[in-house]
Amino acid sequence: MTPTTGTTVHTIPRLEIRNLKRRFGDRMVVDDVSLSIMPGQVTCLLGPSGCGKSTTLRMIAGVDTQDAGEIYVDGNLICDTVFRVPPERRQIGLMFQDFALFPHMSVADNVAFGLKGPKVEKRARVETLLERVGLGWTIDVFPHQLSGGEQQRVALARALAPRPRIMLMDEPFSGLDNRLRDGIRDETLSVLKQEDTAVLLVTHEPDEAMRMADEIALMRDGRIVQQGAPYNIYNAPVDLEAVAFFSDINVIRGVSRGALTDTPFGQFLTPGFRDGQTVNIVIRPQHLKLDFDRAGKGPLPTERDGQAARGIVERARFMGNESLVEFRMDHDGSVLRATVPNVFLPQPGTALWLTLRRDRCFVFPAAQAHEAAMHP
Ligand SMILES: Nc1ncnc2c1ncn2[C@@H]1O[C@H](COP(=O)(O)OP(=O)(O)O)[C@@H](O)[C@H]1O
Ligand SMILES: [Mg+2]
Repeated sequence: MTPTTGTTVHTIPRLEIRNLKRRFGDRMVVDDVSLSIMPGQVTCLLGPSGCGKSTTLRMIAGVDTQDAGEIYVDGNLICDTVFRVPPERRQIGLMFQDFALFPHMSVADNVAFGLKGPKVEKRARVETLLERVGLGWTIDVFPHQLSGGEQQRVALARALAPRPRIMLMDEPFSGLDNRLRDGIRDETLSVLKQEDTAVLLVTHEPDEAMRMADEIALMRDGRIVQQGAPYNIYNAPVDLEAVAFFSDINVIRGVSRGALTDTPFGQFLTPGFRDGQTVNIVIRPQHLKLDFDRAGKGPLPTERDGQAARGIVERARFMGNESLVEFRMDHDGSVLRATVPNVFLPQPGTALWLTLRRDRCFVFPAAQAHEAAMHP
């Protein structure tokens, strides 16, 4: 698919990084990271704290230099290990959590800060941007007269004022309270799209990435482990950790024999697994199905959902738009968690039957170390 904006068809990435590496001491903090972002596109670099997201961003901004790899803007090299365009000439806008507006300057002066050219033009640009972020009325106000969310929007307008070709945003919303955040995220997104900027947004929050990103690059220990549309990352995760990063998970373990793995939930196809290899079957709590106990019997097995296994309710909690039920399984005493829409609060001690929706199960090889521990 070719991304389009208005009538313009872009074929060269606005930002491209190739094989970027950064080492601190003997630790490879950014390890062979490659990415490309088209104008008007938002890519989220998503990963746990300490995985190398900010370091990647700092190299693109030019405040840190990579040990290997290249950075291109609109197809032109701006930085490798010998050649380096200084940060102020990269036309990159930055936005961080502590965006610090200048307290002694009016909102208009804050937004105009990075602008050059005739006063009238600067004023027009400031007015346009403040309108766009819904703050036209704040032009002569001082930052301390604004709420946190409003200050954040001014910071966005300030970053966008010089028409950066790229916006780098490092956890920009994490200082805002929850109620404000969703609204500001949506507004920010629509402003960025109108400006046709390429955006690299760093976050450790899966919800934020799902909400904002055209594409997610999932990062772990300095590497990008998976990259794609939010839908694909969520529904075709590369490994158990990638599933677990987005939601609670249940893991059912089995051993593959003849490309089949027997479990209390029926047999799973495990092509490509060695005989004796440990298999993790991973399923999210919302994809377990519950059924009532009929005098010690559960529902009949089906092609679609396999076999049911019995569990005893340990506890059930109402979470708002769903209920979370925890089971102790009869077959091995393990705990499985299921979520059910709305209100479903069976008494502790109630026997229920659980099935796994086959099309929602992910099958992964268990980690080597684990396998060795289980089969010494
Ligand atoms: N200038 C530095 N010197 C030494 N170690 C650093 C430096 N900057 C970052 N690190 C380390 O690199 C790792 C990745 O940091 P960072 O990129 O900030 O992670 P993230 O933004 O994903 O939380 C961390 O372990 C951090 O302590
Ligand atoms: Mg960081």
